[in-house]
Amino acid sequence: MLKVGIIGVGTVGASVANILRDNKNIITARAGIEIEPVLGVVSNLNKDRDVSIKLTDNIDEVLNDESIDIVVELMGGIEKPYEVVKKALEKGKAVVTANKALLAYHRYDLQEIAGDTAFEYEAAIAGGIPIVNALRDGLTANNILSIKGIMNGTCNYMLTKMIDEGVDYDTILKESQELGYAEADPTFDVGGFDAAHKLLILGSIAYGIDAKPEDILIEGIENISPEDIDFASEFDYSIKLLTIAKKIENKIELRVHPVLIPNAQMIAKVDGVMNGVSVIGDKVGETMYYGPGAGGDATASAVIANIVDIARRGKGSPMLGFETSYGEELKLMNKDDIQT
Ligand code: NAP
Ligand code: HSE
Repeated sequence: MLKVGIIGVGTVGASVANILRDNKNIITARAGIEIEPVLGVVSNLNKDRDVSIKLTDNIDEVLNDESIDIVVELMGGIEKPYEVVKKALEKGKAVVTANKALLAYHRYDLQEIAGDTAFEYEAAIAGGIPIVNALRDGLTANNILSIKGIMNGTCNYMLTKMIDEGVDYDTILKESQELGYAEADPTFDVGGFDAAHKLLILGSIAYGIDAKPEDILIEGIENISPEDIDFASEFDYSIKLLTIAKKIENKIELRVHPVLIPNAQMIAKVDGVMNGVSVIGDKVGETMYYGPGAGGDATASAVIANIVDIARRGKGSPMLGFETSYGEELKLMNKDDIQT
């Protein structure tokens, strides 16, 4: 039996525990071993919750439990989860996280600490879409020419409702929070930072670029005016927050900003909480990925994919890391030189 501790049993953590229970038979068959969520950590033990895991409010109970093989970090934030993930890896526990903010700042040092221990993060980008797997495995024969798409479910949900139904910004932001789509601090979503965190992780996987949010161009959706919304509707356009990585010779352009897109284009049809990502490889051409970008069950689906993968390979078998070879030295384009 493989024992799992879940640090953070909120929207995503509760779904992970519940899916491991609901789909136990199929997951055991596919993993080749029973996977048991044995202990979850929350900050408030008095909250009402429908979750199938024993709970504690003491993180050390998970970290110090030698029988726990895999720690799943789903608490959110940056510094506290860094401390927790570091300790778990140092104790030889495999780690799975959905925390893109953590990875945006600490992916290289955590990978180094992990060494030969599995450290996985499929759910950190585009919710339920297996985009990390696609980039690391499915497209591994290719030089990646571009990655472009919608990678924040909250902003896409908000923009869709604002344009299609005329719902106002504050009402629809509140609804996104209630649905469990938004970050604990939703300015990460609407400010474009969450999409930027995801982009930085993809930039490392595809190009080995070790950059921080401060190094790239980020514009969110907070300044989109009612006039912009009216204009888009009137002329049959959509406004989408696009996340773009592009290889131009040996330079990599990374940027996040809103774009006006004619409704006839495929990316304009990615509505609501859905995400859509186009990846162009030099040999395969364009591939597209579409699916729910946020929400408990969709995100938990990607978290569990990593857990099952670790069960199959063993916790001492890391996948490709961030610093794999690209055949040429690639540099981040200065954000002031980017024309949007
Ligand atoms: P959430 O609903 O706010 O859940 C966070 C959980 O962590 C809660 O159970 C909370 O306890 C617990 N927690 C926070 N700080 C703690 C501490 N210091 N000690 C003990 N427990 C603590 O967040 P979420 O939406 O599930 O997101 C979790 C992570 O997944 C974040 O990194 C987020 O960026 C990422 N993610 C989320 C989604 C999504 O759609 N929601 C999608 C992809 C990735 P209480 O329950 O007692 O408050
Ligand atoms: N807040 C994020 C979003 C969660 O809305 O896309 C998924 O990463």
